[in-house]
Amino acid sequence: MDTVMQDTPLKSNPLNIVNGFRYVPGDHYLENITFKQLKDFKQFYAQQVTEDPYAPGVRDRAMIKLVFNPYSLKLSVSNTQNYFQSYGANETDGGKVRVFPPLSESIVDDPLFLTVLRKDAELMREYCNRMGKDELNLSIHLIRYKSIEGGASYSSPVWLHLDDEPLVFIHLINLTENALGADNVISEMDNKPKHVLRLTKPLDTLIVDTMKKHAVTPLGSTGGVAYRDVMLVNLEAEVQQKK
Ligand SMILES: [Fe+2]
Repeated sequence: MDTVMQDTPLKSNPLNIVNGFRYVPGDHYLENITFKQLKDFKQFYAQQVTEDPYAPGVRDRAMIKLVFNPYSLKLSVSNTQNYFQSYGANETDGGKVRVFPPLSESIVDDPLFLTVLRKDAELMREYCNRMGKDELNLSIHLIRYKSIEGGASYSSPVWLHLDDEPLVFIHLINLTENALGADNVISEMDNKPKHVLRLTKPLDTLIVDTMKKHAVTPLGSTGGVAYRDVMLVNLEAEVQQKK
């Protein structure tokens, strides 16, 4: 009887989109992307990211906020470009508005980005169907973790957490072969790691909702500078629109 009482609210929870997490191999996205589009996007990415003012020497970033209708696929640049997380979601940088280096508006015409977004729109429609919405505030983050041998780069927040965002798509763009660590970890609310996986190939993707916690372990290097380049497609929550 206890089990039934525990299971029912979870299954009927409209925020349960992927039951905590879903791993999607990069091939799912790459089937509609050419080698040249991937090469061009990597070049664009490298041009866009600059030092994260909140983590100098640890990460490079760029960010843009967009308004997106996942049914019509209509896309536009948001009027506000500030990024806010609650303190509950990020003890390191939450509770304050962060202004990141801007990501060029030209991303809305990038063929790789549009292909990825159209695939992500399938789950966004699921969210919209449940919440009675048709327009979403997205934040697109390019985050480059970089580390020299013996050093470390790390995420904010640094360990297991729940995001404010009801849905986050973590798309790997590139992981260099000299990378150490950078494993994704999933836990229940008890903070005990239950699943470990690693995004290694271009567009390998981890999708997370708020049913389970997640983290990524710090990045090190076996020699030279190691990079982990990801693109986050974040579906923002109402609490993040207040600032
Ligand atoms: Fe997160």
